[in-house]
Amino acid sequence: MAEARAPQESEVTGVLSFLDKYLRPGTGWSIAAEYPHVFTSGNLANLRIIEDAGQVLAHAAIKYLILKTHVGLFKVAAIGSVLTDPAHRNQGLSRQILDSCLIAANEQCADFAILWTDQYDLYRKMGFELAGREISVVIDEVPALPPSSIRILKSNKVSAEAILRVYQSHPCGTIRNTEDIWRNLQIPNSNVYTAWGADNQLLAYAVEGKGADLKGYVHEWGGSAQHLLPLLAQIRKDFGQPITIIMPASAQNLVRQLVELKARPHTDGFLGMIRPVNYQGLFAKVIRRARQIGLNDFVIEKTVDGFIVGSKNDTVKLSTPQELTRLFFGPHPDGSLKPEYEELFPIELWVWGWDSV
Ligand SMILES: CC(C)(COP(=O)(O)OP(=O)(O)OC[C@H]1O[C@@H](n2cnc3c(N)ncnc32)[C@H](O)[C@@H]1OP(=O)(O)O)[C@@H](O)C(=O)NCCC(=O)NCCS
Repeated sequence: MAEARAPQESEVTGVLSFLDKYLRPGTGWSIAAEYPHVFTSGNLANLRIIEDAGQVLAHAAIKYLILKTHVGLFKVAAIGSVLTDPAHRNQGLSRQILDSCLIAANEQCADFAILWTDQYDLYRKMGFELAGREISVVIDEVPALPPSSIRILKSNKVSAEAILRVYQSHPCGTIRNTEDIWRNLQIPNSNVYTAWGADNQLLAYAVEGKGADLKGYVHEWGGSAQHLLPLLAQIRKDFGQPITIIMPASAQNLVRQLVELKARPHTDGFLGMIRPVNYQGLFAKVIRRARQIGLNDFVIEKTVDGFIVGSKNDTVKLSTPQELTRLFFGPHPDGSLKPEYEELFPIELWVWGWDSV
């Protein structure tokens, strides 16, 4: 059996039929339409397959994202479409594929890898841990709002430039351009709602559903709470059932206003499963931030059997990448973080739904 490698252009059709057969049976669209930035010729070098006699047996994809945070930019390897042919499972193929992805991500100087899964134990074995904070708010009933003059449109035929302008006001998220947004607007099974002012200015947008996933979830939105509330009310009305809004921990104002309208918040979510990749690069960014906020003797180092972190004369030892991930990105159980590090950690990360792979 061959080693994990990137597919050639001529193999892409075979890779997509393998993925569609097991991951998207009977949907009527290819997984490539759902992840328009992943299965492009420009991203081919970041896919990994194991094949035997021309048959694809296992696959995983990386899409590199540049993430804006209050600490600065992070390069992130988002990993997805992890699949092994049912007849070849439990033979270590996924482990080989993921190892290959992590080696590639290190070579590409990614600070950390992220993936979205419900198979926590499998990925914990590979050094990933649930981390980052996510709030989800359930809107059970159509909220009663005062009349408003904004015009609401349910259509994906909207200006990518206008959406980009609103998106860019988020303090956290990936760096995107108009082309990225345009491609996202084409994702199947996705309802795009926009709110327009009297002067045809885009005020807010919100997206429910994404391909086979996220039905009933608003995973991507932008604009101020004042303009988002009527949009979310409209989505809840059209959907005919409770909807869930997914949001970063920083969206306190929107959460508060939704709660006033009787929505139910859940604050115990995670952004995804995360694993540090390039320790040197990641540590350099954290140390730079520590210095900026006056923690002049903050140290963090990799040792032969773990990590040491703290101030020069008072360090603690962390044994696993999972502990490091939780320290960096939270959530931290109450009282578990030393007060002097409360300004440094957690590093608030957020990846909007259009960027999940
Ligand atoms: C999940 C999946 C990719 C695993 O592929 P695989 O090639 O059988 O995995 P491997 O044989 O490399 O196993 C890797 C490790 O994970 C463990 N593992 C495999 N499946 C697991 C599961 N469902 N839950 C927990 N651990 C699991 C194995 O025991 C092995 O551990 P070990 O190295 O300590 O022995 C495969 O079952 C699959 O394609 N499932 C359907 C698609 C899917 O769910 N993809 C993941 C979405 S994120």
